[in-house]
Amino acid sequence: MYSQKVMECFMNPKNVGEIENADGVGTVGNAKCGDIMKIYLQIEDNIIRDAKFKTFGCGAAIATSAMLTEMVKGKTIDEAMKITNKAVAEALDGLPPVKMHCSCLAEEALRAALWDYAQKNGLTIDGLTPPD
Ligand code: FES
Ligand code: FES
Repeated sequence: MYSQKVMECFMNPKNVGEIENADGVGTVGNAKCGDIMKIYLQIEDNIIRDAKFKTFGCGAAIATSAMLTEMVKGKTIDEAMKITNKAVAEALDGLPPVKMHCSCLAEEALRAALWDYAQKNGLTIDGLTPPD
């Protein structure tokens, strides 16, 4: 039911861990399944230099966090804002329909981390709204 890429990202996920003194941290949870995802960003000169995650969740949630953190590295904030859960799922060669919501967690966690960064630095990021 999972693509090869999802399996790889799940078995051997990149970017697991924390960033000490991260510039932005976002934590989101899915009330239905109880899974929790935390994303850490290191941002310098408007560019995401590093990203790590801690996810207590299903295989798809872990695979999407690993893929998302890999995708945002080296991107500007505006570019990162354009990454959708669909793009993450596509980079994983798709997710089973019942697992698409898990990729939403990744998008939400990224946005929450960017929000945290914006708050700490008194910035506004186009299109970014406060996390629920
Ligand atoms: Fe939360 Fe899609 S289920 S954004
Ligand atoms: Fe909860 Fe996948 S089942 S995030």
